[in-house]
Amino acid sequence: MHKKDGMYYPSEEIAEGAHVNSEHIYKEAENDPVKFWEDRAREIDWREEWETSFIHKPPYFEWFLGGKLNITESFLDKNKDSDKTAIIFCPNSPDEEERKISYRELYREVNRFSNALKRMGVRKGESVGIYLPMIPEAIFALLACARIGAMHAVVFSAFSPSALRVRMQDVGARVLITADGFSRAGEFIELKKQADEGIKDTSVEKMIVVKRGSNEIDFTEKDVWYHEIIKEESEECPAEIMDSEDPFFVLYTSGSTGKPKGVLHACGGYAVQAKATGKLIFDLKGSDVFWSTADIGWITGHTYTVYSPLLNGATLLLFEGVPNWPEPDRFAKIIEKHKVTAFYTAPTAVRMLKTQLGDFQRELDSLRILGSVGEPIDEDSWEWFYKIVGKERCPLVDTWWQTETGGILMSSLPGVGPFKPTFAGRPFPGVKFKVYDEDGNEMPPNKEGDLVILPPFAPGMLRGVYKNDEKYREEYFSVFGEEVYYTSDTAYYDEKGLFRIVGRADDVIKVAGHRLSTGELENAISKHEDIVECAVVGIKDEIKGEAPVAFVVSNSGKDSDDLVGEVKKMLMSEIGPIASLKQVYIVPDLPKTRSGKIMRRIMKKIFSGEDLGDLSTLANPESVDGLKEEIQKGQ
Ligand code: WTA
Repeated sequence: MHKKDGMYYPSEEIAEGAHVNSEHIYKEAENDPVKFWEDRAREIDWREEWETSFIHKPPYFEWFLGGKLNITESFLDKNKDSDKTAIIFCPNSPDEEERKISYRELYREVNRFSNALKRMGVRKGESVGIYLPMIPEAIFALLACARIGAMHAVVFSAFSPSALRVRMQDVGARVLITADGFSRAGEFIELKKQADEGIKDTSVEKMIVVKRGSNEIDFTEKDVWYHEIIKEESEECPAEIMDSEDPFFVLYTSGSTGKPKGVLHACGGYAVQAKATGKLIFDLKGSDVFWSTADIGWITGHTYTVYSPLLNGATLLLFEGVPNWPEPDRFAKIIEKHKVTAFYTAPTAVRMLKTQLGDFQRELDSLRILGSVGEPIDEDSWEWFYKIVGKERCPLVDTWWQTETGGILMSSLPGVGPFKPTFAGRPFPGVKFKVYDEDGNEMPPNKEGDLVILPPFAPGMLRGVYKNDEKYREEYFSVFGEEVYYTSDTAYYDEKGLFRIVGRADDVIKVAGHRLSTGELENAISKHEDIVECAVVGIKDEIKGEAPVAFVVSNSGKDSDDLVGEVKKMLMSEIGPIASLKQVYIVPDLPKTRSGKIMRRIMKKIFSGEDLGDLSTLANPESVDGLKEEIQKGQ
């Protein structure tokens, strides 16, 4: 790699070996984006080719209409006789034996699971809940659903029973796949117990339990063991052939309101984008060992921990544990031992590792490419990742995308560049990003505004919000009209056309890369009977990037330490450990406009030290002093 004008460019050696190493692809895609995606679509297996590539009926759009496929055929059937390793599984404990699963074994395992699901009556088009830790069975579960045309609806295993419940209630799954328990770092989690609690008042009738923790569980009539139901099943299960536009999966994510939304993806377009982005952005080849550290509970876990590496015939690494347990050198050791070639993680992990510098002073010469995702990466962390982990040799691709976009849509390509620290990079070929002012006028370079995507969008983008069409229109296709996809991010681009993401324009915060809505946290806190009113805002955090703090108004004379403890506990039980509050401030009043809207912006500004601006528009300007006082006390 070499540096010029504050930007990095790939060396000749990297460029030569890469799938893409010239501007050609950008020009071609710009001239005819639909054709660009058609060419990408030909790289996966279709049973029947599509008739129409793209249809746009704003705010709806469809890709590859008439095409028939099953995503699993592109990697399972294709490699069913291959002994090449599909999955390297590294358990939480370094003392537990690692497991390697070949493509041949994966084919059989998934088919047996698919047959078992069918025997339980799971049919094409229905949803199946998945609440599992990072174990191979989580991948088998995803793929078995895909194989039989059922929609998987994965819920992050660190979400609490209540969080599981709201998602299951919305998606209406009859079957939930979970595990007895598992260890994460030094902690043991009784997952089945949480699942039992979480399915109360939902439509879940059956639970498939993977034995992982060997802890004692309450096993009732509704429960079956995974290992038992697959035992007698055949290793062959013909794939259900899907229409390109059939729903593929639902994944819940946080938006501007308190209620999570079920983002819906389609079979054909998602597969095409997952394959193409992995190939072009991580330069994936059959010889790669690709490690995406994202949990399957999030979109990155779906697309880059599972589908993209498999579609590209690579070996994927699945890690059950955390970056710094039992020792801070865990990540480095895994990269070294398994000769990881491409390593994709979140800035939070980079910041955590950075504080333990020495552990990456190893060769790590298998690495070719590094990737970052989920939140803006600060310059210092970028440089550290690039120098200490990548040894100034590996392109570091910052990748921007969302649960809604299904796959990466912005990142410089490793064989082309350029890479500019803190900039996500160039739009993926064929994708039209613009920055708008509030009236929908295009902004010139270096001016901040709303990041939007114009037609033809990209094939892997969402097709709807599950059971809530209104929400789809409102959140994504109303701000600038029905033809413009609104990302909810603010951004700007430089003279070179590289984009920099500034942050979210809505109430979404990124805590350790995890997407949470402050509204969701507020709803949870409001359930406490002593809380009259509350507001949650995200503030800067050294490691997590952002962390939530809560301001609460209470009507009880309760001891403040007790109340703070209860509020924290409330969030733990309503959402889970990822929602842990950095601070809770008990205040007499919250700043509001005359119409009663809580001014969260003011609270954020107090933390960042920004000028608070004109407070005279507030109904209760004196409340601001109360906030300042509490914040000072807490520091
Ligand atoms: C943010 C994660 C800066 C952004 C794949 C987006 C980023 C939200 C980046 C989506 C990046 C994602 N640089 N910000 N490289 N990648 N974001 O749905 O605000 O969990 O809208 O998808 O994360 O989060 P989600």
